[in-house]
Amino acid sequence: MTRVIKKSKDFIKLRNGKLFSDKSVGFIPTMGALHQGHIALIKKSLKQNDITVVSIYVNPTQFNNPDDFKKYPDTFNQDLQILKKLKVDYLLHPNYSEIYPDNYNYRIIETDFSKKLCGKFRPGHFEGVLTVVMKLLNIVKPSRAYFGEKDYQQLQLVRGMAKAFFLDTKIISHPTIRTKEGLALSSRNLRLNKEQLKVAPEFNRLLKSRLPINEIKSQLKKLGFKVEYIEKINNRIFGAVYLGNIRLIDNVKI
Ligand code: PAJ
Repeated sequence: MTRVIKKSKDFIKLRNGKLFSDKSVGFIPTMGALHQGHIALIKKSLKQNDITVVSIYVNPTQFNNPDDFKKYPDTFNQDLQILKKLKVDYLLHPNYSEIYPDNYNYRIIETDFSKKLCGKFRPGHFEGVLTVVMKLLNIVKPSRAYFGEKDYQQLQLVRGMAKAFFLDTKIISHPTIRTKEGLALSSRNLRLNKEQLKVAPEFNRLLKSRLPINEIKSQLKKLGFKVEYIEKINNRIFGAVYLGNIRLIDNVKI
C-alpha cells in the first residue's frame, strides 16, 4: 500500500516513529508526470532499501519561466497508480506552505558550477532546486537519495551540497533512460507535438556524433531547433535546445 502524506510535520512524526526504526530509507524526489526515467530510480531504491519514499512536488522556486511552471504536466492520479503498482511505501505530496513556511526567505546558494550551463540561462533555477532538495532531505532523512544523470548538473550540485553540509544521505545516480530513438525521457516531452517528437531524437544523435561543437549547433538549427548552449566540460558534452517553446536538455559521456 502506498500511503500519501501531505504535511511535513506528519512525515517527520512518522519517520521518527517505530515504522522507520533501524530501516534503510530510499528517497526519490520528483515533480510528477512519472515516466520510465523516474521508475528506474524508484526500482533501484526498492531493491536497495527497506522503505521507499517518493515525493511529487512541482517546485515553483526553480522555474524561472512562469509559463513553463503553469504548463508543467500534472498527471497525479496516474502517478499514484504507478506508485501503488510498484509498491512504493510512501508518497510525500506537500503544497507550497508545507515546503516554504519561510516564504522562501532562506535559500541554499552555490556560487560556482550553478552559474554555468543551465544556470547561465535560468537565473535562480539551481537556488530553487538546491533549496527544495535540502528541505525534502531534511523532512525524509533518507539513507539514500536517487537522482538521474539526465539532469547531470543538478546531480553534481546535489552531491556537492550533500558533501558541503555534511548530510547523512548517500546520493545515488542512475543513467539516463531514453526512447529507442535516443530521446531522453522527460515530463516535458508530453508537450511535444507529433512533428517535434519526430525530430527531437536528433538532439541526442548529434551530441553523440563527435562533430565539432559549431557543426552540431548548425545542424541542430537546420533541423529547426533553437540552440541555447552546447558545451563540453571534461569528458561530457552538455546541451539545451528548444523545439517551439519546449526546452530540452541532454548530456552524454564522450
Ligand atoms: P523531475 O524532472 O521530476 O526528475 C526527478 C528525478 O528523475 C531527477 O533526479 C531526474 O534527473 C530523474 N530523471 C528524469 N528523467 C530521467 C531520465 N530520462 N532518465 C533517468 N532519470 C531521469 O529533477 C527534478 O524533478 C526536480 O528538479 C527535483 C529534483 C524533484 C527538485 O524539485
